[in-house]
Amino acid sequence: MLVLGIETSCDETAAAVVRDGRFVLSNVVHTQIAQHRPYGGVVPEIASRQHVEHLPAVLEEAMRAAGVDWSSLDAVAVTHGPGLSTSLLVGLAAAKGLAIRLNKPLVGINHLEAHLYSAFLGPDAPEPAALMPFVSLIVSGGHTAFVRVDGIGRYRLLGRTVDDAAGEAFDKGANLLKLGYPGGPAIDKAALGADPAAVRFPRGILRNLPARLTGLDARCCVSYSGLKTSLLYYLRDHPLAGAGDPVVGSLAASFQEAIVDTLLNRVAHALGNLRTLAVVGGVSLNSRLRGKLAALAEKRRFRLILAQPAFCADNAAMVAGLANHKLAATPPPAEAFLLDAEPNLGIGE
Ligand code: KG4
Ligand code: ZN
Repeated sequence: MLVLGIETSCDETAAAVVRDGRFVLSNVVHTQIAQHRPYGGVVPEIASRQHVEHLPAVLEEAMRAAGVDWSSLDAVAVTHGPGLSTSLLVGLAAAKGLAIRLNKPLVGINHLEAHLYSAFLGPDAPEPAALMPFVSLIVSGGHTAFVRVDGIGRYRLLGRTVDDAAGEAFDKGANLLKLGYPGGPAIDKAALGADPAAVRFPRGILRNLPARLTGLDARCCVSYSGLKTSLLYYLRDHPLAGAGDPVVGSLAASFQEAIVDTLLNRVAHALGNLRTLAVVGGVSLNSRLRGKLAALAEKRRFRLILAQPAFCADNAAMVAGLANHKLAATPPPAEAFLLDAEPNLGIGE
């Protein structure tokens, strides 16, 4: 089965062709980082305009690189939420148009479920059925959550961030340290070789959950707003000497350590008696997180599955791959064409 996937939920314009849910024939991502950099974050109006401008060429390139004809596609899959509504609508309109023109099924995909699926992409990735049940940690710019996975489409949200996502914490910290945008890769780089114990930042422990999160386990939830404030106060009391101040490296390493430890401290509880943890999403590219997770897996004797780097940040291969399984389970109804953007779609709630 050959599926074309389309992803435009935030600031990445992406298209990919995946065979049989696993073999990625092409994976094209047009990033808009340069357009959003002057604002230090994603500007929705700019993002949707960029999607409109670049999606046609990204689609052509995905088909060309895969070396397949439009007529050989079996389905078109598209992210319909969660995300920025004006960005989601661009991908949805293109996917509907293509599916109608090609007379193929249209599959709407939940972006968070696609991130969960990213661990199964590539010829060397495990078979989904072989890992069930397991726990997945989704860590990205917009989301931070522990999810129990009992099967494809069978999820239970265990815990999540009560405020900022881990990627957002990286981005805000980098902004305070004047390291530029996006913050995750900048902090990762600045922290290399620096002392992560130089400053002790808070680890976001939660005792009580806000009422809107009743039902979740506080021991699987995290908070990052205090961490950001703590860095802000630290810099107020110890101002940087200017760009290139050598203390920036140890502050970046200490800040990163707090983000990473906050996640690691929740792993044992989220796993319970399960023995497999998958970690997916843009922040799972973080070298310190990868290193410390590997050490924890060895010490606590659980299996660690990390998505391949090409599939961690937003991409359309995870959308097309997941769609293959959805199609195999039940063919999408004709109403799929009425699919609308769902900016607040959740998972396993
Ligand atoms: O999954 P993703 O592309 O988008 C969302 O769905 O949100 O994740 C983007 C996030 C950004 O916040 C970025 O700073 C972060 O992933 N990121 C990293 C690294 N590379 C990307 N965070 C920490 N370390 C990295 N190396
Ligand atoms: Zn994402």
